[in-house]
Amino acid sequence: MICPPSNQHIQNAIDQLNNGDLIGLPTETVYGLAADATNDLAVAKIFERKKRPRFNPLIIHSHSIQSLKDHVIWSKTAEVLAQTFWPGPLTLVLPKLKDSSISLLCSAGMDTLAVRIPNHPVSLEILQRFDKPLAAPSANPSGRISPTHAEHVHQDYPDLLVLDGGACSVGIESTIIDLTNESPQLLRPGMITRHEVEALIGPLSTATSDAVKAPGMLKSHYAPEHSVKLNVNNPKEGEAYLAFGPTHITGDFVLNLSPTGQLTEAAANLFTMLRKLDASSCTGIAVAPIPNEGLGLAINDRLKRAAAPRDT
Ligand code: TXA
Ligand code: MG
Repeated sequence: MICPPSNQHIQNAIDQLNNGDLIGLPTETVYGLAADATNDLAVAKIFERKKRPRFNPLIIHSHSIQSLKDHVIWSKTAEVLAQTFWPGPLTLVLPKLKDSSISLLCSAGMDTLAVRIPNHPVSLEILQRFDKPLAAPSANPSGRISPTHAEHVHQDYPDLLVLDGGACSVGIESTIIDLTNESPQLLRPGMITRHEVEALIGPLSTATSDAVKAPGMLKSHYAPEHSVKLNVNNPKEGEAYLAFGPTHITGDFVLNLSPTGQLTEAAANLFTMLRKLDASSCTGIAVAPIPNEGLGLAINDRLKRAAAPRDT
């Protein structure tokens, strides 16, 4: 449903977000598919509805630098860029604070977080009134073109509440700068150019396209300390077990991604449960088979990475 951004419709949108549902959010770059970034299940719905084959990390949107400081480690470089370009089409990747309430799913299990303050009156009003950060990728199914009009979002997601913010003035996704390494990196080009950024903070290195396309391969990506084995129906003694669906297996180190076998719930629990089991005194982590369909594709992609041989 396309709605004008009246007081009433904005309130409806906020109710939906509080309910753990998604909305179509206009920003100056492209329309976003937005969810409460602190709600695991709501964030899992984003991946489900985008049909993403893997958990690409998501950009966190907020109305103020002050509120972002609850979630990321701020720096002088971040301050310079934010003061110059925010609100606006620039995303900064920063180290994530350990006690941030943002769902681990937003950062695909990594210790970093991509954040921005969008420059659009409707998104700013929603962010202020909702007063929690929103996770929002572009509101299109994976592999399709990003939406720049409310109508585009409606075509792909007819049941979604889409606030009509008019045509997006920028029309391409935000420039992404990674500030988590020694030298800042340009991860995604956008309207704010390399030249404009370099004029303020010095030379940027360019990420290999692989690193951006496959954030799961980034060095900072979370990998469990313990070994991970997949497709296990009967864990060995001493092994932690990450179950899925109804199971007779019980024990101190047994957690169930979704006792009823729901993939959305499993995705919502994945990173939190992996971390919990990894912190236990088990000998390794065994994971139940997960159906390789729908969100199961992304869950299995992530689990395969967790189970892959390590460099060190
Ligand atoms: O303009 C935009 O940025 C739009 C609007 C809706 O704000 N959003 C957007 O989100 O383009 P999305 O999901 O299409 O782009 C997210 C990309 C990821 O694929 C990845 O390249 C990068 O942002 N990213 C997010 N978190 C990251 C992280 N922690 N480390 C490295 N890259 C990250
Ligand atoms: Mg996109």
